[in-house]
Amino acid sequence: MKGVFEVASVEETWALAKELAKELKPGDVVCLEGDLGAGKTTFVQGLADALGVPGRVTSPTFCIVQEHQSPGVLLVHMDLYRLHGEEDVEALGWEDYVARGAILAIEWPERAGTLIPQNARRIAFRHLGEENRKITIDTEDRIAV
Ligand SMILES: Nc1ncnc2c1ncn2[C@@H]1O[C@H](COP(=O)(O)OP(=O)(O)O)[C@@H](O)[C@H]1O
Ligand SMILES: [Mg+2]
Repeated sequence: MKGVFEVASVEETWALAKELAKELKPGDVVCLEGDLGAGKTTFVQGLADALGVPGRVTSPTFCIVQEHQSPGVLLVHMDLYRLHGEEDVEALGWEDYVARGAILAIEWPERAGTLIPQNARRIAFRHLGEENRKITIDTEDRIAV
C-alpha cells in the first residue's frame, strides 16, 4: 500500500498500521517522520498488535530502543530523537538487529543517516486537528504533507 490517508481517530491510525503490517517481513525498516504528538508511536502500537506482540507499546523516548518479541518476529522500536548521528545509532546494536531479521520501526530516522536502507518504508504524519491526521505512505511529497 502507498498513498495519502486521512484518519480521524487513534483507532483509524491503528487500522492503517494493521494494513501496512500485513506487508512487512523480517528485515524491513519502517521510518516514521513527523512532529512530536503527530502519531508515530501510536502507529507502532498498531503494527505491534498486528504482528502479535503481547502487551502495550509505549513511547521509547527515554530508553531509545524497545524490543518487542512476538511469536513470529522481533519488532524493534527506536526513537532516535536524542541521538546525534549514525555512530550513536550503530552503538545501539543496529547491525545486530538487522542480522537477526528484526522489523525496525524508527522514529526520527534522519539521525540514522545511511544506515536506513533504500527500500525502507516511509511513513509521514501531520496534525490536521485534535484527532485528525494526514498519514502518507511511501510518497515523494512526504516533506510537504
Ligand atoms: N488519529 C490519531 N492518530 C494518532 N494519535 C492521535 C490521533 N488522534 C489523537 N491522537 C493522540 O495524539 C498523540 C500522539 O502521540 P504519539 O503517537 O506518541 O506521537 P509521536 O510518537 O509522533 O510523538 C496521542 O496522545 C494520541 O492519543
Ligand atoms: Mg513517539
